[in-house]
Amino acid sequence: MILFANPFAILAETVSPIFMQSFVVAMVILIIIGTLLDIIHKKNVKYFFENAKKAKLSATKTLTTGEKISVISKTIVSDIATTSELGAGKRRAAHLLGMYGTILFWIGSAIMIFCYSNPSSNTPSFWPIIWHVGAIMTVIGGGWFWFFLRVDVYSEAQPWYRIIKADLFVLALVASSLFGLIWSYLQSLNLNDRWDDKVFLVLFIVSNLVLFGGVYWSKFAHMFYKPGAAIQKNLAEADGSRDNLPPESDAPKQFGLGITREDPKHY
Ligand code: HEM
Repeated sequence: MILFANPFAILAETVSPIFMQSFVVAMVILIIIGTLLDIIHKKNVKYFFENAKKAKLSATKTLTTGEKISVISKTIVSDIATTSELGAGKRRAAHLLGMYGTILFWIGSAIMIFCYSNPSSNTPSFWPIIWHVGAIMTVIGGGWFWFFLRVDVYSEAQPWYRIIKADLFVLALVASSLFGLIWSYLQSLNLNDRWDDKVFLVLFIVSNLVLFGGVYWSKFAHMFYKPGAAIQKNLAEADGSRDNLPPESDAPKQFGLGITREDPKHY
């Protein structure tokens, strides 16, 4: 049963664990380099801190440390852990599947590669299960988003097969999980001299290189920026500065009957 087999321990019969571990370290370095280059290029972090400093001037209330901790904890539990920004519905469900799937897949990979990647290792079945289930969740969540929910398809009536640079992240993410799953399955069949599993191992490696090597060009780094932005937004709401935006109107909502005819989806 592939769900219980550590694919990296089987791979270790032909590839040294040191090689796999170095690959993981190289991917982490690629994430750091890509994110730093992105920060330098977009100047987004500089803008973020300048904006936060400017907004502070219009704060109507000084938050105590306790209040700040409470706002930050609520942000972690709601905005970050459940992506509440996406509202209720399929968009959020798809994101949660993909996000937690990826987290499980990456943790499973790291643990199996660093702790149980000797052919003689006895991997507790918990880790291969986490890895395979994470990959399946990522493929479902990412596929759901890519085929049905991304703005081009959902709102702009573009065909699902139209690929642009903005799809780099989601496609590389889904590809790495999908190729990982297929490779693990084929390898578990003990094909020996057949080529199938090796082809998917190469595809698995290439898709990881694209995913982690493409951080500068893709939306990868949103997983670091979004939590920071959510914390700042909620702190700015609590201290009354509201990022220098006007307060919400408390006038009755009168938008005419048309507003309820269709979900807002034409951007
Ligand atoms: C391991 C962590 C994460 C993964 C793997 C992940 C994955 C993804 C993917 C694949 C997309 C679609 C990108 C596209 O537009 O092509 C996406 C979009 C998005 N993510 Fe994440 N994400 C993660 C963390 C987060 C966090 C922590 C937040 C917020 C706090 C967040 C908020 C969003 C939002 C608002 C979108 C836009 C969704 C939409 O257009 O429907 N993500 N994410």
